[in-house]
Amino acid sequence: MKRNITPFVLLLISLGLSSFLCTRSPMVQMEKSPNMVASTDSPIDKRVDSLLRLMTLEEKVGQMTLYTTDWGATGPTIREGYTKDIRSGACGALFNSHTVKFTRELQRIAVEETRLKIPLIFGYDVIHGYKTIFPIPLGEAASWDLTAIERSARVAAIESTAAGLNWTFAPMVDVGRDPRWGRVMEGAGEDTYLGCRIGEARVRGFQGKSFAQNDAMMACVKHYAGYGAPIAGREYNSVDMSERYFRDYYLPTYEAAVKAGAATIMTSFNDYDGVPASGNKYLLTDILRKEWNFQGFVVTDYTSMNEMVNHGVVANEKEAGELSANAGVDMDMQGAIYQKFLAQSVKEGKVPLAQVDEAVKRILRLKFELGLFENPYKYCDEQREKTQILTKAHRDDARDMARKSIVLLKNDQNALPLRKGAKIAVIGPLADNQSELIGNWSGAGEAKDCITLLTGLKTNATCQYVAGCATVDGMDKSGFAAAVAAAKAADVVVVAVGEKAMMSGEAAARAELTLPGVQQELVEELVKTGKPVVVVLMNGRPLAIPWIAENATAVVEAWWLGTETGNALADVLFGDYNPAGKLPMTFPRSVGQVPIFYNEKNTGRPYDPNSKWTSKYLDLPNSPQYPFGFGLSYTTFGYSEPQVNKTTFKKGEDLQVTVNVTNTGKRAGEEVVQLYVRDLVGSVTRPLKELKGFQKIMLQAGAFQVVTFQLTDKDLSFYRRDMTFGSELGEFEIMVGGSSDNVKKVKVTMQ
Ligand code: BGC
Repeated sequence: MKRNITPFVLLLISLGLSSFLCTRSPMVQMEKSPNMVASTDSPIDKRVDSLLRLMTLEEKVGQMTLYTTDWGATGPTIREGYTKDIRSGACGALFNSHTVKFTRELQRIAVEETRLKIPLIFGYDVIHGYKTIFPIPLGEAASWDLTAIERSARVAAIESTAAGLNWTFAPMVDVGRDPRWGRVMEGAGEDTYLGCRIGEARVRGFQGKSFAQNDAMMACVKHYAGYGAPIAGREYNSVDMSERYFRDYYLPTYEAAVKAGAATIMTSFNDYDGVPASGNKYLLTDILRKEWNFQGFVVTDYTSMNEMVNHGVVANEKEAGELSANAGVDMDMQGAIYQKFLAQSVKEGKVPLAQVDEAVKRILRLKFELGLFENPYKYCDEQREKTQILTKAHRDDARDMARKSIVLLKNDQNALPLRKGAKIAVIGPLADNQSELIGNWSGAGEAKDCITLLTGLKTNATCQYVAGCATVDGMDKSGFAAAVAAAKAADVVVVAVGEKAMMSGEAAARAELTLPGVQQELVEELVKTGKPVVVVLMNGRPLAIPWIAENATAVVEAWWLGTETGNALADVLFGDYNPAGKLPMTFPRSVGQVPIFYNEKNTGRPYDPNSKWTSKYLDLPNSPQYPFGFGLSYTTFGYSEPQVNKTTFKKGEDLQVTVNVTNTGKRAGEEVVQLYVRDLVGSVTRPLKELKGFQKIMLQAGAFQVVTFQLTDKDLSFYRRDMTFGSELGEFEIMVGGSSDNVKKVKVTMQ
């Protein structure tokens, strides 16, 4: 049968709209390359190309422009009137706008009132949960449980996408070795290997199996690159390190997250080697695009393009835009520079049009992949919003993750677990504080939904609560007497001290790592009563707490555990759950040891307590208070000597390492078995140990398990003298244990 071709269809064809519109099959975006970005010959690319041909330069720049709504902005709002910008096609993406009602209305403007009807994407900092708040990422990292971490990100994505969002500014994969830097709370700690695995798990969790799902959201790996190493731990400070160090320890986490399929990546505020990341072609094009073949789009951090003027590498914002565009920045977050100047820069020949086209294509491709052209309201489902947020199941997941994140640092006299039915004095400014316990960057989480420590403990004990000091950082000691009286009347004291949520996170560097205010003095008074004192730390970074480590009966690191804080802590403190967390970051004795991390090098004069002329301090040992990988359990574990399947092996051959781990205590428990390696003689100096594997195992009391690790050539590789990446022949130490400072060794030789 012959069809009539209407004049309207003819018009579409002549405009080149045919392939853009006619191939709107919902299945298209399911044909995936491994990183979920369609390959260049996919139908999506044809659609992108035909759409691109219809766009004016100004509309192209609009797609490269991201604005916050005036909802929960994280910095100065440069532009106002974002609805005007959406309508005119000057803005293609928004952040800090969520809930179905709000996003639906904004999307309606984009797809009904703009010339080309290109849908918006909606981003938000969903860092550790949308409404059901999970532990802060540093806390989750202490679980060393990749399945649980992936689940946490999955739950965050399910809730976010039910609230109109399709893009999260997470995971933050910046390696952090300096606890003064407040943003360590948002990462996975100090180790590159652990950081890689956790970053991958988070990307998988957020993005789900395919963007065809309505509960998958784009991840945004941040902050590329090196943001975790600001000089002196001071937020936004410069980053300067050798390329070798950068490539060995700081770059791999971004690469791992990119290779895990992250759709987008965010530039960092800092300069690296003298060039701000948002204008750094070496980072954004040479490494990201050429070495790693990243197919997604690059967004700046909040006005970081503008800040290149302050950095002093450009004279004005127009030049900043040119530097960014030519370096490979696809989208300008909140800076309005692309909007103001980019079209002009293209007309002047300062930025090639092809560069703009590539950026727009990358952005549009993801909008197609998300299925937004098929259904711009895919994420605006009121029914989902009503039923899939803060559900019982999600709270159960959050409780599980929170229990797994807790690290038992000290347990003298078997003070823990607490006896159910005991009389407990619950003390401390954080013991019953809902708003602090959900932590910084807590999305749309609400304090009212948070179970406090006090509420949790009350389920199994008689509790008398006295704050002792009303605030974390106040100097008022008038509540001490009541706290001491409560302690004296109780069987045991549980005291929650630490930081306010806003003392870590962005713009929250601290020069001291001690407990703020009079909190330590409060603990001192409680210890004087002679009652067992269990200190529960709530904080976003490693703290220096030598007095507490020495004098408290038990110490529990609880970070910020989120919505289910109290239930999770009660599970652990009463022994219904046996803690198994291990520190993802070294706890120093003093801020003077910072930066401090486990995988340091030997130096030419390794530490010798009996010799002055070695690498050391006069006033403190080199060792930390609590090392990386450390954490106790209510049971104990014994390790056999590690065995290898061959003590000499050829380059390129895998090595099998086995160790027999036994639960030598009286309770079932989990252990994180850690594998470290050391290259004894290299063409460049190598660390004393580097994590290259871990396994979390569950053992019944008295049971044992043979744990097997497969070491590959890559695990023994590094950037050699000539900056090529690979292994070198010679001797290696393979170490296995339950903490970085407690390992057993075997030597092997690569021939
Ligand atoms: C932070 C980013 C965040 C962005 C948007 C910035 O200040 O550094 O991590 O994603 O704001 O909220």
